[in-house]
Amino acid sequence: MIPDKTLVEKDVYHAAPEVVQGAHVPNFQKYKELYSQSIEKPEEFWGKLAKEFYWKTPKTDKFLDYNFDHTKGKIFIRWMEGATTNICYNLLDRNVHEKKLGDKVAYYWEGNDPEDCMQVTYKELLQQVCKFANVLRAQGVKKGDRISIYMPMIIELVVVMLACARIGAIHSIVFAGFSADSVCERILDSHCSLLITTDGFYRGDKPINLKQIADEALRKCRERNFSVGKCIVVKHLGVTEATGATDETCTDRASSNTQSPPAKRSCYNLQITWNADVDIWWHDLMKEASDKCEPEWCDSEDPLFILYTSGSTGKPKGVQHTVGGYLLYTATTFKYVFDYKPDDVYWCTADIGWITGHSYLAYGPLANGATSVMFEGIPTYPNVSRLWEIIDKYKVTTFYTAPTAIRLLMKYGEDPVKKFSRASLKILGTVGEPINPEAWLWYYNVVGNRKCPIMDTFWQTETGGHMMTPLPAAIPLKPGSATFPFFGVLPAILNESGEELEGEAEGYLVFKKPWPSIMRTIYGNHQRFESTYFKKFPGYFVTGDGCKRDKDGYYWITGRIDDMLNVSGHLLSTAEVESALIEHAAVVEAATVSHPHPIKGECLYCFVTLRDGHEFNETLIAELKDQVREKIGPIATPDYIQNAPGLPKTRSGKIMRRILRQIARNEKDLGDTSTLADGTVIEELFNNRCRTA
Ligand code: WT7
Repeated sequence: MIPDKTLVEKDVYHAAPEVVQGAHVPNFQKYKELYSQSIEKPEEFWGKLAKEFYWKTPKTDKFLDYNFDHTKGKIFIRWMEGATTNICYNLLDRNVHEKKLGDKVAYYWEGNDPEDCMQVTYKELLQQVCKFANVLRAQGVKKGDRISIYMPMIIELVVVMLACARIGAIHSIVFAGFSADSVCERILDSHCSLLITTDGFYRGDKPINLKQIADEALRKCRERNFSVGKCIVVKHLGVTEATGATDETCTDRASSNTQSPPAKRSCYNLQITWNADVDIWWHDLMKEASDKCEPEWCDSEDPLFILYTSGSTGKPKGVQHTVGGYLLYTATTFKYVFDYKPDDVYWCTADIGWITGHSYLAYGPLANGATSVMFEGIPTYPNVSRLWEIIDKYKVTTFYTAPTAIRLLMKYGEDPVKKFSRASLKILGTVGEPINPEAWLWYYNVVGNRKCPIMDTFWQTETGGHMMTPLPAAIPLKPGSATFPFFGVLPAILNESGEELEGEAEGYLVFKKPWPSIMRTIYGNHQRFESTYFKKFPGYFVTGDGCKRDKDGYYWITGRIDDMLNVSGHLLSTAEVESALIEHAAVVEAATVSHPHPIKGECLYCFVTLRDGHEFNETLIAELKDQVREKIGPIATPDYIQNAPGLPKTRSGKIMRRILRQIARNEKDLGDTSTLADGTVIEELFNNRCRTA
């Protein structure tokens, strides 16, 4: 168990002595002890950790109450109900006033362009958040109101989310890569009363007119008889509304908002339209606002935010998280999984528009008083050394990214990495999809110089925080395995009939007990929450992932076993893509399957059946790809579209996607075809295959 000289023993990787020294959990034995306590006495275990935070009314009685079994009634989970607090107060006021971290940097902001950067301290962040919380209150926003946020990776995004949390409003952040349709759908689903957005931003050398997409989303909402009250616009690129001409004073925003050195923003001649009835500039509102704001004291079980994730019916699910449990769990996982120390500089490359950004770029690190890097750009701009350059620039100690980014950068070889020292790095992490051992080894050997353990963290939008994960010093690593459960997490592997499998086994990954940051409901549809996660196996939370346990008890996530696919670490539902395709006039029927992709992990392979009189050609393929981009967003763009005059179906008319998956891969073994109604379509489908990479 203890490291040998090379740290590697039969493909098991042990922590180097410098990782072990001073670690919060120094060895496997200690992990086992803490884990047992967390499972046997959850109330004591979490109760102790809860004391590190400020509670206006502390919890005195029942710490946890829940029902996971739908046959016994309604599903519910309540942690510390009756206790009151404010999460923003815990992240900012407590750190500034109690912990005296006011002058500590909360974020180093690194823009899309390398010369574009700024920093914000805890004290400055608190002031900005208070100001914007007052702005929201002045706009009539009250506790429980839903606020839609559609912004790029800029500091104001964190300011907005924490300002919502401060006044008890529920934020619903929509990733800035989503389309107008997706924004509209999410605003309508949760009846958001305000939209906060940005003039535009750059992604590499590509300008994105975000305001225009936001306008389009609001127009679509109005068509469906719903209007948000106001649209608040952050001036990020520095355009003026009237002419669209570049604003000479485009550095004003940052310098007037904070005491940090003004950021050099890229100015771009971007045309935006301005609707004076709805649109208001952020800086006009902030000018007058006071920087003192009394927080709204919320119940531990009050909703904190909604974040939409794909659902297998095609309609996105508004995953709802609550104040107390989410605070407790994101703070604790951040501390232990990244073995956080006060001098660390932590960098999570995820966008705040996804759960990883919510939990591990905003709430978790701030709850610990950590210094983070927030990066607006992409790994390949202006060149493929960008990530490593940033690591050296800020002396990053802890680096958390996605397997897809690693696979992308691996393609360019070791030289772009080795141009920079990366000497500050101590701990690495990955999230979002299974990491293939080849990418794991490159990350470990090349990026981490064989001295940084890799935390392969398995979790979901629904779980709010890490579920299966190593701890840096305590758990020897196996490339590709998310290893063991975090404290308080009780996994099981079930077979098709719902029996728990012991020892070496493979089956459905489920959880038997609630952890503090489990989602509480799907916004506006508790029944869907119960049927999606608790119906299949009564008494268990079903993840939708397959999983293997090896002879040493290590868990290996094998991927989704439902109608979801994972493109570059983001879930999409096949139904959502199919319904976007069917909206095209030429398409009568569509079926989508996942296909292996060397960088994205999985990509979309679509089969379409055309209406009579339509021809399958390059123009149509381009139109169909555009259609999906427009309906969902660029991440959902299909890689392959195949003409399918007939689709394999069961006698009851269900499309057999399992067979289509084999056809896409040119795999002749189709498995059991006894339920296939008409076998004659198969040969034609094989003949029409797309040439795949
Ligand atoms: C799905 C959740 C969790 C934040 C980002 C994605 C897959 C996630 C891993 C991992 C294997 C993983 C699962 C899961 N996944 N992390 N370390 N190893 N698979 O959040 O969009 O809710 O997706 O991502 O399939 O169910 P999400």
